[in-house]
Amino acid sequence: MAKKNIFNGERTEKYDYLVTKEQPLSYTAESFQKVLINLDYANIDGKHKVIQFTSTLASEGKSTFVSNMAYLLGNKGKKIILMDLDLRKPKLNRVFNSTNRDGLTDYLSDKIDYEKLIRHSDEFGIDYIVTGEKTTAIVNILESQKLKDLLNKLRESYDYILLDTPPVIAVSDALYVSRITDGVIFIVGQNTAKKALVKEAINTLKSNHVNILGIVLTQVSLKNGAYGYGYDYSYKYE
Ligand SMILES: Nc1ncnc2c1ncn2[C@@H]1O[C@H](COP(=O)(O)OP(=O)(O)O)[C@@H](O)[C@H]1O
Ligand SMILES: [Mg+2]
Repeated sequence: MAKKNIFNGERTEKYDYLVTKEQPLSYTAESFQKVLINLDYANIDGKHKVIQFTSTLASEGKSTFVSNMAYLLGNKGKKIILMDLDLRKPKLNRVFNSTNRDGLTDYLSDKIDYEKLIRHSDEFGIDYIVTGEKTTAIVNILESQKLKDLLNKLRESYDYILLDTPPVIAVSDALYVSRITDGVIFIVGQNTAKKALVKEAINTLKSNHVNILGIVLTQVSLKNGAYGYGYDYSYKYE
């Protein structure tokens, strides 16, 4: 286990779940490739640039999924930036083995400039933005004009801006974010969310006119272990 680095009392140890990078020939990595192809089709005219990833509850695999997608898209030559907008439970810093220092909240409060905000990972070949100093003014941030301006600026430089966001049930953060995104990919952890709650979450998104691009089933058990993995991803359209 990597050495713990305490910053704002949060967990910063490295998060090793980039299966597409570590095991590119695995069944799981292959499932990701399929999602990617579907996303390319859904986005044939390039209208969906800012894509949000959310789910019903916490721990359904959003951060893991969006990180793998970002890595694969970057690997295909797309210009990618991955932004951690889960200001309550940030995780992307751990994927990139860094802290949340000098991130979004610091940029929005003018403590750092754009150049300092945008980080590049040589390891993954993509850019990313961490959350920054912890704040309780989360809704103000997600609704701010400055965040919209930032996304518009990013649109000029990237093919995709992928947003890791909180789940739909319990807090409204995901709904605020959905107003500034082009579409949402909804993650369902097979063993995490109950069907009724998933339905409720999807209905909440729909009644807020959110453009659901697709639904991804994660944490799927592959019984009999034919591929030697305990998990998989699958993808379906609405
Ligand atoms: N496809 C998967 N199969 C099995 N476990 C997974 C998968 N994706 C994520 N996990 C595990 O589920 C937990 C939550 O994942 P995370 O990506 O942090 O979820 P979220 O961002 O939705 O809270 C982590 O412990 C992670 O290792
Ligand atoms: Mg997360």
